[in-house]
Amino acid sequence: MAGDIRFDGRVAIVTGAGGGLGRRYALDLAARGARVVVNDLGGARDGTGASSAMAEAVVEEIRAAGGEAIAHGTSVTDEAGVADMVARARAEWGGVHILINNAGILRDKTFAKMEIADFRAVLDVHLMGSVICTKAVWDMMREQAYGRILMTTSSTGLYGNFGQANYGAAKLGLVGLMKTLALEGAKFNVRVNTIAPLAATRMTEDLMPPAFLERMGPETVAPAALYLVSEEAPTNMVLNAGGGGFQAAHVTLTKGIHVKPQDMTPETIAARIADIRDRSGEVVPETGAAQAQMALSGG
Ligand code: NAI
Repeated sequence: MAGDIRFDGRVAIVTGAGGGLGRRYALDLAARGARVVVNDLGGARDGTGASSAMAEAVVEEIRAAGGEAIAHGTSVTDEAGVADMVARARAEWGGVHILINNAGILRDKTFAKMEIADFRAVLDVHLMGSVICTKAVWDMMREQAYGRILMTTSSTGLYGNFGQANYGAAKLGLVGLMKTLALEGAKFNVRVNTIAPLAATRMTEDLMPPAFLERMGPETVAPAALYLVSEEAPTNMVLNAGGGGFQAAHVTLTKGIHVKPQDMTPETIAARIADIRDRSGEVVPETGAAQAQMALSGG
């Protein structure tokens, strides 16, 4: 058995931590010694409205349990607000070691009925919100040679779900963001991972059957999130968690085929599509450049 995972001396920002998963992450990090910035805009599920009450209530819970926390009510989409949040954490506690990009909204509709404004709003909060928060701590993490950043994707981003085109696009965007940041952060001991949660929260209360939800409280996801921001965290990992299940998701590449110039025709593709799809011997390339190398060399 490995020793206890602790966060003593670490400062963590958890976005969207006024309720649901973020609240659980904040409470658990604080219980294991972290000082936590509890961020939440405090709006409705679709991102309208704002109130600092949710974040403050979680800070009270942490303090009542003997932990240290401060609330910050900025929207993750507000660059100046996020800069202020990071500056406050630094002034209060000297730095930021952990960032959990968790804030999110839903505007579900079939693509046929979806307004572009609903698409933009969802991309803005999930994807640009995570970019803005990550950018605000990035230089500091590089300078202090320590950083643990967690993105939040979804089964919708990884595999698709009806009525969530905007959400899926934003959520898989976060995996792409992680993949490059994991490479760029590596030599500075900045590790970047992604969690794909499944939990009963206000986001899912009417999307999943009650029998499912009972077995899937946020406490079934938090252990994976804490591991992914711990000292011994991996980097570039997508970890699905919820209801007792923990799985790794990968973007794989089949061995495929390699043909001569005269065979580079749509007819060749049609004739050999089964070979191209054949999953025996598939791999997970370390980088996009590695994939390009494999394509050129024929495996
Ligand atoms: P939730 O709705 O309880 O939590 C999201 C929190 O983000 C809310 O407290 C909300 O006020 C806050 N928030 C929204 N917009 C914000 C903004 N612009 N700035 C700051 N805070 C903002 O939902 P839940 O389920 O806890 O979601 C947490 C994350 O997990 C989200 O990114 C969600 O997409 C993701 N997720 C959740 C799944 C689930 O099964 N619950 C499944 C897959 C992904």
